[in-house]
Amino acid sequence: MVELLERELKMPTSIPDGVSVERFLSREILGVVESAAIEAARFMGVGDRHAVDNAATEAMRDQLNKIPMNGTIVIGEGERDEAPMLYIGEKVGHGSPGLPEMDIAVDPVEGTNLVANGLPNSIATLAISSKGGLFHAPDTYMRKLIVGPSSKGKVDINAPVKYNLSVIAMSLERNIEDIIVVILDRPRHEDLIQEVRDCGARIKLITDGDVMPAITSALRGSGIHAVMGIGGAPEGVLAAAAVKCLGGEIQAQMRWRNEDDRKRGESMGIDPSEEKVYLTDDLVPGDEIVFAATGITSGDTLTGVRYFGAGHRTHSIVMTYHSGMVRFVDTIHMTGGRRGPVKFH
Ligand code: FBP
Repeated sequence: MVELLERELKMPTSIPDGVSVERFLSREILGVVESAAIEAARFMGVGDRHAVDNAATEAMRDQLNKIPMNGTIVIGEGERDEAPMLYIGEKVGHGSPGLPEMDIAVDPVEGTNLVANGLPNSIATLAISSKGGLFHAPDTYMRKLIVGPSSKGKVDINAPVKYNLSVIAMSLERNIEDIIVVILDRPRHEDLIQEVRDCGARIKLITDGDVMPAITSALRGSGIHAVMGIGGAPEGVLAAAAVKCLGGEIQAQMRWRNEDDRKRGESMGIDPSEEKVYLTDDLVPGDEIVFAATGITSGDTLTGVRYFGAGHRTHSIVMTYHSGMVRFVDTIHMTGGRRGPVKFH
């Protein structure tokens, strides 16, 4: 589907009568992730991580501040003293009394290295929930097991890898050899990679960016069946928001990078134990959830930003939980004065 959007001249100042908050925000946040991706993709392959991140963060913040809501960043670019924009606790949206109070998790560039090096699967992404609906994950690690809807409620992060691979294979009515698991290519995963290989499953090693594979693993027919291993905790919450909308499952355990992280987690009220298992609803307890992502560089599910003389084209996924919507949006943004022919592929 090609959706042709004129650049919006006026942003709404309130939520129209009869439209749910979730539905309303799902329309508004599309422009937020699109803008971040459009600005970030300009720096593809330039080798400058900071330039990528700054461009996307600024664009995301500008757009968020145009949305009528009282938003609070609960997962963002860092603490207030270390991040000038989209820091934890920052208020966003042009709020006024009566507008909804929302918690927001943002990652303006998920896979900064991927963009800086021109590699696939980077996205601009965010999740919004009604207040208290997102786990406030500190910037540390999380051990994750992510599967699609057919394996939901059947896997167990504490069970041997072979058990989980068998469950995933049986749920999809195929053999373990047919299963593909995405794992971050890190020395800490040496044993995990060996175990998966010993079971006969196939592996897709990625250099960065474990949110997009999480989404892909919850999409039937995508060719990715699970994500396993240790990655960022904030990314775990974003992945949880997406898989909750898609009916998949995440199981996770905190993995503190160091003692300072553990203490900080404890001060935020998080159980310091690495044994505690967080299920999807622990990470995203909210009932009203909106998740959106736009491809920056092309990957398995989303095409990256393409620029042409008179504008640019983006590919996004927008999902809601309560109203059960999954929308793929292919947008041509005609920014120049000159209008050219629109291609349908
Ligand atoms: P960026 O924050 O640079 O975009 O990196 C994201 C990421 O690759 C995540 O997708 C992943 O969960 C995490 O970093 C892995 O962390 P590490 O690189 O320290 O193993």
